[in-house]
Amino acid sequence: MFLEAQAGWRLSSRKGRKAPKGIAVGRLGFDSRMPRQKLLREVFAEVGTGCTVETPLNANWGCKHVHLGKGIYINSNVTFVDDEHIYIGDYSMVSPNVVFTTSGHPVLPILREHHYVYNLPIHIGRNVWIGSGSQIMPGITIGDNSVIGAGSVVTHDIPANVVAFGVPCQVIREIGEKDREFYYKDRKLDVWE
Ligand SMILES: CC(C)(COP(=O)(O)OP(=O)(O)OC[C@H]1O[C@@H](n2cnc3c(N)ncnc32)[C@H](O)[C@@H]1OP(=O)(O)O)[C@@H](O)C(=O)NCCC(=O)NCCS
Repeated sequence: MFLEAQAGWRLSSRKGRKAPKGIAVGRLGFDSRMPRQKLLREVFAEVGTGCTVETPLNANWGCKHVHLGKGIYINSNVTFVDDEHIYIGDYSMVSPNVVFTTSGHPVLPILREHHYVYNLPIHIGRNVWIGSGSQIMPGITIGDNSVIGAGSVVTHDIPANVVAFGVPCQVIREIGEKDREFYYKDRKLDVWE
């Protein structure tokens, strides 16, 4: 299915606040004019305020089993294999070409020949960022604030407050002081000044 959502996110600072200096990314400010919110509410099982979903969007059940909190941003060409329910927490961001698959087939050939399938729900916490091209397997839970690096295949649950990536996706480190100082490699944050 294709879902046309408004491109409401912008690189901008919040009114009355100083824009961050010296970094290539600004705040993602939400455009309060939301003519397509009604459509999002019709398409998704649940949708909070301030969500943006880019197109194209692919979903087995038309997102009828996808639950979005508030302030979520979903970039283009995301696929929801939503045979089971998929829950995405407030302020999470999903990069292009991410696949959430709640379904799988038994490895035993005779069962697949008879089209056996299993479905397990996926739970994404609050303020999670999933990097582009990642694959989220059936039954996975990702904890609040965690970052999943681009190209990861998430086969085990990921705890809260960590950076994890790889195939299979593994916890690399906890989010901490380093991240208050640098936003990317050796590029320094100056948003605190
Ligand atoms: C994971 C990520 C957030 C960086 O996290 P970080 O902890 O700051 O990692 P660093 O950049 O310091 O890299 C540390 C090491 O991990 C490696 N690495 C980083 N991201 C990786 C990834 N996704 N897969 C495999 N290895 C990765 C780096 O090459 C580096 O290795 P090195 O020490 O041998 O040079 C970032 O690399 C990433 O994947 N971002 C996703 C970008 C994206 O999908 N954008 C879409 C639009 S929003």
